[in-house]
Amino acid sequence: MAHPLEQLREDALAQIASAPDERALEAVRVKFLGRGGSVTRWSDNMKSLPKEEKPIVGRLLNEIRTAVTAAIETRAENFRAEKESATLANIDISLPGTSHERGAIHPLTQMLDRSIAVFRRMGFALAEGPDIETEWHCFDALNTPADHPARNEQDTFYLQDGRLLRTHTSTVQIRTMESAPPPIRVIAPGAAYRRDEVDATHGAQFHQIEGLYVDEKVSVANLKGTLEFFLRELFGADTAVRFRPHYFPFTEPSFEIDVKSSALKSGEQWVEVCGCGMVHPAVFEAVNRSRRDNAYDPEKWTGFAFGLGMDRLAMILFDIPDIRLFAQNDLRFLRQFA
Ligand code: PHE
Repeated sequence: MAHPLEQLREDALAQIASAPDERALEAVRVKFLGRGGSVTRWSDNMKSLPKEEKPIVGRLLNEIRTAVTAAIETRAENFRAEKESATLANIDISLPGTSHERGAIHPLTQMLDRSIAVFRRMGFALAEGPDIETEWHCFDALNTPADHPARNEQDTFYLQDGRLLRTHTSTVQIRTMESAPPPIRVIAPGAAYRRDEVDATHGAQFHQIEGLYVDEKVSVANLKGTLEFFLRELFGADTAVRFRPHYFPFTEPSFEIDVKSSALKSGEQWVEVCGCGMVHPAVFEAVNRSRRDNAYDPEKWTGFAFGLGMDRLAMILFDIPDIRLFAQNDLRFLRQFA
């Protein structure tokens, strides 16, 4: 005669096969495998069985538990699959898909990418600093005293806590030298902010690429060579480049650079694109004070720095008449650079 457990197995498997849905299936599981379920009760009763029956019942119970568990899992998987195909049946795969418009790189970013690529070929690494700055990094360390007009409320956006929106990317010169000893050869692209009257050539936010090169025996000739090479890579080999004497507190001597090229729409007109000069010894001394060492000994190291106006460069390269177009998000404008 078959063991009563064989009957139990058959009942369990039959009920699993006929369970109409997931809930019924769960009820069957509880009934057989749950805490007070039949299989569990048999296991609990093993102790009271005669010695010779124990191994037979033990083996049977194991088989049953395995078989019932597997059958439940298979049935549950069937329910899941059925549900999924029911959902899919409601989707019309012949409908056209959702189309996504393809974006393009903003002209300012294109200009930036091109410029960075040229400087990378000359061995410049990328550096960066925050847009919200301290007066120290924006002015004091750059040899710009407290009574300098650039620090005036009218030119600078001040925050309530005394910090400010950097008025130029020259802040990154200081941050770079504070965190690493010479030699230094970096460029730092980024935004700068001034409380200018907004018009076709001035925005409250504009973009610069700062450059800093510090080593032994760096000269004005190196500065000229680097920037002339850069501007001719950008605007063509027959671009005329003019260095005009200028004044910045943090460089000495200082220059402004103008370019002129028949390849440009701006034609035979000089356009100012850059401020630059040889790093002022007072800047090295300020950096040493903040580093608490003499890493930038002005007797040993020299350097040049420059700040290129990216908006201006993009405007002359792409013949854009108004700086405000960069930030207006007008697709008629932006699509022309896609
Ligand atoms: N920071 C200057 C400006 O914004 C440009 C500059 C950078 C000049 C580095 C000299 C050296 O006008």
